Amino acid sequence: SSINLQEIHDFLVSIAHAAGQMITAARPTTSRTGSKTNTADLVTETDRAVEKMVSERIRERYPDYEFMGEETYKPGDTLTTSPTFIVDPIDGTTNFVHTFPYACISLGFTINLVPVVGVIFNPFTNQLFTGIKDQGSYLTSPLHNREKLPLKNLEPFYDENGSGGGGLSSCIVIGEWGSDRSGNDYDVKVKTFKKLCADKKDGGAMVHSIRSLGSAALNFCAVAAGWADVYWEGGCWAWDVCAGWVVLKEAGGEVVDANPGRWKAKVDGRRYLAIRGGEGWEAVVKEFWGCVEGELE
Ligand code: IPD
Repeated sequence: SSINLQEIHDFLVSIAHAAGQMITAARPTTSRTGSKTNTADLVTETDRAVEKMVSERIRERYPDYEFMGEETYKPGDTLTTSPTFIVDPIDGTTNFVHTFPYACISLGFTINLVPVVGVIFNPFTNQLFTGIKDQGSYLTSPLHNREKLPLKNLEPFYDENGSGGGGLSSCIVIGEWGSDRSGNDYDVKVKTFKKLCADKKDGGAMVHSIRSLGSAALNFCAVAAGWADVYWEGGCWAWDVCAGWVVLKEAGGEVVDANPGRWKAKVDGRRYLAIRGGEGWEAVVKEFWGCVEGELE
């Protein structure tokens, strides 16, 4: 296409830094924090202020493109094939209000429903993750001078001789509890986490461990970097995953559906299994699906 992705990337990086300043300057308190649907689905003044700044700057520079943002989304809004900016002003709002330093601004751009630019900035750790389709993804931070992702070799998932260990059981898995703590999906999550962690003699996968860090976008980046191997989620939205999707794919990773047997995932599909690249990844996906107890809706 004739759209200059590098220019969009550079523009989004500058917006991310401006947003970062607003986010670190804010002093949220848990008592002044509002809730969208329940006490765990939090939204702050800062989420709204950052989205306003970002959407104004995007509309001024790219008036012809679509915009979708977490705080201005209305039920029924759908992602179209048009070029679209997809923005989460603060991903990890719960962390943000508790001052747990794992939150970010997540800026994505899609063409034909495919994420093609992703910029994610955690202003508390000064980690900037960026990716452009077919051009790789990178981490810039106090410790990393624009290093290409993943930060280590994509090791095969299984040992040479296939005996003992290996596969899913040698993975760090990220799984979030989400903000909806009732119903089918919550039940599926809890049972699946139990099975993933359980000892093999009890029919479990005995993964190395499960992490719940509280930001979908940064979770995708963690898998892209190679810090974690798998991230499994049901319930989050296109703005939580769009930017991270590019960062992960460009790092050699893959995204499939969280539910068993579905190899195709959609950016607005609300169910994701993200996995780092490496020989045998398909078999690990199948192993993981074997641990999914039920179906996420
Ligand atoms: C949330 C975080 C969380 C995920 C939720 C998201 P928010 O985003 O990404 O990790 O489990 O599904 O809604 O609300 O902090 O932008």
